[in-house]
Amino acid sequence: MFAKINVASFLITLFVVLVEGSNMIESIFEDHENSIGTKWAVLVAGSSEWYNYRHQADICHAYQLLKKGGLKDENIVVFMYDDIAYHSENPKPGVIINKPHGPDVYNGVPKDYTGKHCNAQNFYGVVLGNKSALTGGSGKVVNSGPNDYIFIYYADHGGSGVIDMPIEPSIYAKDLNEVLKKKHASRTYEKMVFYLEACESGSMFEGLPYKGLNIYVTTASKADEDSFATYCSPKGYETTCLGDLFSVSWLENSELQDRQVETLKKQYQRIRKRVLNNGTEGSHMMEYGDLHIHEDALSIYMGSNFPTHTSTKNNYASNSRYVNQRDVQLLYLISKFQNAPEGSRRKSEAYRKLSKVILKREHVDKSVKHIGQILFGVENGQKVLNIVRPAGQPLVDDWDCLKSFVKIFESHCGSLTSYGKKYVRGFANMCNAGIQRDQMDAAAKQTCSS
Ligand SMILES: *[C@@H]1O[C@H](CO)[C@@H](O)[C@H](O)[C@H]1NC(C)=O
Ligand SMILES: *[C@@H]1O[C@H](CO)[C@@H](O)[C@H](O)[C@H]1NC(C)=O
Repeated sequence: MFAKINVASFLITLFVVLVEGSNMIESIFEDHENSIGTKWAVLVAGSSEWYNYRHQADICHAYQLLKKGGLKDENIVVFMYDDIAYHSENPKPGVIINKPHGPDVYNGVPKDYTGKHCNAQNFYGVVLGNKSALTGGSGKVVNSGPNDYIFIYYADHGGSGVIDMPIEPSIYAKDLNEVLKKKHASRTYEKMVFYLEACESGSMFEGLPYKGLNIYVTTASKADEDSFATYCSPKGYETTCLGDLFSVSWLENSELQDRQVETLKKQYQRIRKRVLNNGTEGSHMMEYGDLHIHEDALSIYMGSNFPTHTSTKNNYASNSRYVNQRDVQLLYLISKFQNAPEGSRRKSEAYRKLSKVILKREHVDKSVKHIGQILFGVENGQKVLNIVRPAGQPLVDDWDCLKSFVKIFESHCGSLTSYGKKYVRGFANMCNAGIQRDQMDAAAKQTCSS
């Protein structure tokens, strides 16, 4: 038993090191209310499982905000796996909250694309308004016209140039760009706003052709920077986090301010500081696309409100705990382990799961590092994998190469996992360095077959 206690304290130390270490990775008007366009929204939570509670909470909260703002259910399309509200670990079955002691945000949320139907293919079909591209789900699509306004908000895990969905495949930056270019070419919107929360979210737009599409983008983080979970481990929810930092920042700001007055730009400036979190456990928000759009009032996309200039003042800093998005799963497993009674079956089960996840992480770390060394030499391997291209350049020149390298890695070394998505940049750099598929295949095979 004492051995386990030692292991526990070691794991907690390791967790602290991981969380701290990741912080060091990078220190990083006119109101058209009278216009005739319809407001549309697509809300996407890209994850599942209890430890990812916060993504679905963010999305449900956004739904409530838009609904109160006057958008109609027929114009709000929701993607969520929907395994949280009635999860066995939920202390309040049927209820989802997005901040400690917050109101229920789950009631009334349309379940358009849940479970396995919450996937990339359906997301593309919905955005493009193409019903024949759908499988399952409610069939609701953005059936928009040329004068309409579209708001897309996505919250989940990501990696360089990629964001997750609850089931494969992920959404690659290039594919997202193609879909939005197609939407633009179909002349079925006036303007679009895209809010993205994910690790390395800037890399989804950096260097890709977005100018001239009438799309304004805000991301939670720079291209090479993680994003942060917040409201972690409050009472009753010790094993998870209730929100993400960028997400709750814009949502709470949108409720606090008068949206007919507050512009997108003003919101960006106002919440930037909170999201940066004093440069310690925060990230640098970014803007992409047609920046002039940020002069628009929030109400054009989110509807109007009666601002609540009340007690919800900025007391968030005091009761918040921030965790790097990639480490929330460890937070979950460690607290499960700590909270289980000594010597119980639950304790050993929690220990087994935690060890498994840590071993899996180590396996991914070592495998990618080893492949880098085979391809570029022991000296240069790490250096090449970590190259970050200057702002304005895309992550990779050949996106098909990147996709195939991830596939090759997974075929020999097993699933990359959300955690391992942090190595997508490494694969991109292999492509950029001219590595061929057969070289990658040989290196991955050599690394992982033994
Ligand atoms: C709609 O989706 C179907 C199936 O993916 C595809 O064959 C078709 O070309 C799409 N239509 C348009 C207008 O994009
Ligand atoms: C911000 O960080 C600096 C240095 O890390 C620290 O001295 C300062 O107290 C912090 N400010 C706040 C408001 O947390």
